[in-house]
Amino acid sequence: MSIHINAKEGAIAPAVLLPGDPLRAAFIAEHFLENPVCYNQVRGMFGYTGTYQGAPVSVQGTGMGQPSLSIYVNELFRFYGVRTAIRIGTCGAIHQSTKVRDVILAIGACSDSAILTQRFGILHFAPTADFGLLEAAHQAADREGIAHIVAPVVSSDLFYDDNENWKLWAKYGVRGVEMETAELYTLAAKFDRKALAILTVSDHIATGETTTAEERQTSFTAMMKIALETAAAQAVP
Ligand code: HPA
Repeated sequence: MSIHINAKEGAIAPAVLLPGDPLRAAFIAEHFLENPVCYNQVRGMFGYTGTYQGAPVSVQGTGMGQPSLSIYVNELFRFYGVRTAIRIGTCGAIHQSTKVRDVILAIGACSDSAILTQRFGILHFAPTADFGLLEAAHQAADREGIAHIVAPVVSSDLFYDDNENWKLWAKYGVRGVEMETAELYTLAAKFDRKALAILTVSDHIATGETTTAEERQTSFTAMMKIALETAAAQAVP
């Protein structure tokens, strides 16, 4: 048990999928895992453990933004022995070459958050994905015929960004903006664990283009396939 996760020892698998939305966690458990058991309901931030093709996999909601994700990932790493953490979520496209419905495997995550400055002061840490996970996800996507790109994203503290900072990030090749990945990668580095973010592009900030519910569902299923194949592969000795 930890402050925000009410799970017994051994109730959480070594590989965990991390959607922001706790109801997404419940949906994933019910539709993609076999024999799912709910291990957490504290604050409605649902967590489940089940199996995928025989391999144990958990799915834990993190909430929105780096401070919320930080609480859950800290507790998963510190108290539940989690080795592999795969964020699954959406991002907004900020680069002309990125299209809505694209699947992005986030190779690295910039950030505007004070979370990084609190830790590193004037130094600038570069949060990056685990290469083995990235490679496994890339191969799973190729195997399944799912179009995807490997690219950097930015984790912003502001969903409603009046300063339009995304324009500067885009000039430096950053493809998408979301709100969690930089902290996930930083904590994985700190605790010597593996992390990856797999993101679908839900909207285009530069063009204003959005996705329909049906398109979001198709990209979501593609993202889930990549995430589950990658997580399950980690369980193989
Ligand atoms: N900004 C931040 N996070 C997001 C966005 C966005 O526009 N779209 C999806 N997640």
